[in-house]
Amino acid sequence: VSHPDRAAGLPRGAPSAIINDMQPEAEVRAAFTEPEAFWSSPLYRRLSKVVAEDPQLVRLAAHTRAGQVPTFALFGAVQYLLLAGCDDPLAGYYPSIRGDRARPPDHELADHFRQFTRRHRPELIQLLTTRLVQTNQVQRALGLRLGLHVVGRDQADRGRAGAVHLLEIGTSAGLVLRQAAYGYHLGGCRFGRPDSPVQLRAEWRSAEPVPDLDQLPDLASTTGLDLNPLSADDPEDRRWLEALVWPEDRAKALLLDAALDLAAELPLPILAGDAQHRCADWAADLPDGQTRVVFHCATRMHVPGRHRPAFDQAIADVGRRGPLYRIAIEGAGLVVIDPDGVARTPYDVNGHLEWVAPAAGLG
Ligand SMILES: C[S@@+](CC[C@H](N)C(=O)[O-])C[C@H]1O[C@@H](n2cnc3c(N)ncnc32)[C@H](O)[C@@H]1O
Repeated sequence: VSHPDRAAGLPRGAPSAIINDMQPEAEVRAAFTEPEAFWSSPLYRRLSKVVAEDPQLVRLAAHTRAGQVPTFALFGAVQYLLLAGCDDPLAGYYPSIRGDRARPPDHELADHFRQFTRRHRPELIQLLTTRLVQTNQVQRALGLRLGLHVVGRDQADRGRAGAVHLLEIGTSAGLVLRQAAYGYHLGGCRFGRPDSPVQLRAEWRSAEPVPDLDQLPDLASTTGLDLNPLSADDPEDRRWLEALVWPEDRAKALLLDAALDLAAELPLPILAGDAQHRCADWAADLPDGQTRVVFHCATRMHVPGRHRPAFDQAIADVGRRGPLYRIAIEGAGLVVIDPDGVARTPYDVNGHLEWVAPAAGLG
């Protein structure tokens, strides 16, 4: 993993590709007035209201880097400090720290939160101005696997077998990219590694047979790419990823931890930088004529609208010297674009890959 920003002496996690402006306070407050966004976290729902009603807290959250979601960033930064072992009454409300003994949100929570953020303001600003919201959802490996299965079938239909080169854009710590190291349970069928400590379970919402997720094209190479790659070997990167998991979501935190342990043992090449520029570097090393697959999940949605045409063009250019498949999970099912540029949505999925259904008439 290369970290050009660290080499340049910038603070950890401070990609130079991102401009660091304060966010407009009105927009920040608006983000905290939608507590229902934290549908499975009673703690964050309550804290959202606390922040929305307190101008000082809104001002603090406005330090979040441009383009980053201030709710996730502020709550991630607070939990990061608590997970590091800050001895504070606020920790008593976090199931991630106190487990079943955590206090439910009560009338004292707001005061504890205000006091904690006042006491730790400099560390929180440091985190908000240097870290990115880079949640790495291990469960999405199932989406990559589904996409690769579709690519394999399409290759067979075209009479074109052969290994493919895989690039994941927005790989974070590369946990989705390590799909081959996990086990899968879908619609009563099992795939992948039954002995893996990472077992992913999803609901199959269909009477149709489950696709054979062990039938995938061979991978000639596997590479990640991220504005700011995180490393499973780095305790601070690991803690940041854990801090982005909502405190009540213990199953997800355990899965993350197991996947990070696996990732630390399975190094993969990860390029640092913006996809707009680095896709070409990756493609330049591929042999002419060989099939390439570019995958991205919950990444393009974070690219500012004015940069999306260049992001899309950079991916399309990867196909200049060999057939290109693009697999995308960006909010509207699983989309596969084939080498002729034809886009299909073979599977409906939700963003966290908790369920899968073949799209009507396809699959
Ligand atoms: C929300 S995270 C999702 C991570 C992972 N794909 C997943 O689904 O678990 C989005 C990631 O995309 C990266 N990213 C955003 N814009 C990018 C760009 N233009 N080029 C490369 N990476 C980018 C961020 O740094 C972050 O790690």
